[in-house]
Amino acid sequence: MEHIKAENLTLGYRHKKVVKGIDLIIMKGEFLSIIGPSGVGKSTLLMGLNATTSILGGRLNVLGCNLDRIGQNELRALRSKIGVIFQGFNLVARLSVLDNIASGMLHRKLLLAALFKYYSRQQYEELYEYMKVVGIEQEAISRCDRLSGGQKQRVAIARAIAQRPEIILADEPVSSLDPVSARCVLETLKNANKKYGITVISNLHQLDYAREFCSRVIGLNGGRIVYDGPPEHLSAAAVAEIYGKERHDPIDNTIRHFSYAPAALSAA
Ligand SMILES: Nc1ncnc2c1ncn2[C@@H]1O[C@H](COP(=O)(O)OP(=O)(O)O)[C@@H](O)[C@H]1O
Ligand SMILES: [Mg+2]
Repeated sequence: MEHIKAENLTLGYRHKKVVKGIDLIIMKGEFLSIIGPSGVGKSTLLMGLNATTSILGGRLNVLGCNLDRIGQNELRALRSKIGVIFQGFNLVARLSVLDNIASGMLHRKLLLAALFKYYSRQQYEELYEYMKVVGIEQEAISRCDRLSGGQKQRVAIARAIAQRPEIILADEPVSSLDPVSARCVLETLKNANKKYGITVISNLHQLDYAREFCSRVIGLNGGRIVYDGPPEHLSAAAVAEIYGKERHDPIDNTIRHFSYAPAALSAA
C-alpha cells in the first residue's frame, strides 16, 4: 500500500523553491532515511509530508489525501495519523514520563484523564506497553526534565506511538545525542516500525546510522533526489554526489551541491 506519492513535487517558502520537482513513492512499513548536507531541504521535504511547508508545484498524496487541495478538517484528521519527532524532544518538562506519553493519546480519548492525571486500568496498561517498547518503564513517574537526552527522545517516540500513527516523521532525532544513546533511539524507532508496522521517515545527518538502521536511503542535494536505494548500494561515488561540495550554480542562480563540476559550470 502506498503511504506517500509525490509527483514532480516542489516545496518551499514564499519566494523560495527548496525541494525541486521530485518524484517519490513510499510504501507502508518502510523505514527510510533522508540524508544530505545541511541546507539541502531535508526538513523542508519531511515537514512537507504533513503539510507544514508549502507545495509550490506538482502533486503530493499522503495516506490517500491530496495535500495540494486539502481542507482544514481533513488536514487535522491527517495530522492525527502522523507522529512527529524533533531533534529538541518537545516534551513538557515538568510533567512525568507517563503524562507526556499520555498526551499523545489526547486526540483519541484521554483528554479528561490527562487533565486529572487519572488513567483507567486499561489506559494505564496501554501506556505501560508503549513505555516498554521504548524501554522507559522504570522512569514512568520521573519528571521529564530529569531524564538524559536519549531517554527524552525515547519518551518522544512513545508519545508518537501513543498517537497510533500510520507514519512517524523524525527530523534529525539523534543529532544531539552521543553515539550510544543515538543507536538506542534508532533501535527504538526500528522496534516501533516492526511492532506496529508504522512507516518511519527520518532525516539523518550521519550516513553511518542510515547504513546501519534503514532499508532505504534517499540522498538529497540541491533540492533534488540524487540517490534512492538500499544503503548497501551506496557507492563512494554516490556518497560523494550526496555530500558534494557546495557550488554556486549560475544557471538558476541558486546554491546547488556538486561533487564535480558539470560541463555547464566549467564552461561558465
Ligand atoms: N521558514 C523558512 N523560510 C524561508 N526559508 C527557509 C525556511 N526554513 C528553511 N529555509 C531555507 O530552506 C533551505 C533548506 O532548509 P532545510 O530544509 O532546513 O534544510 P536541511 O534540513 O537539509 O538542513 C535553506 O536554504 C533554508 O535557509
Ligand atoms: Mg533540517
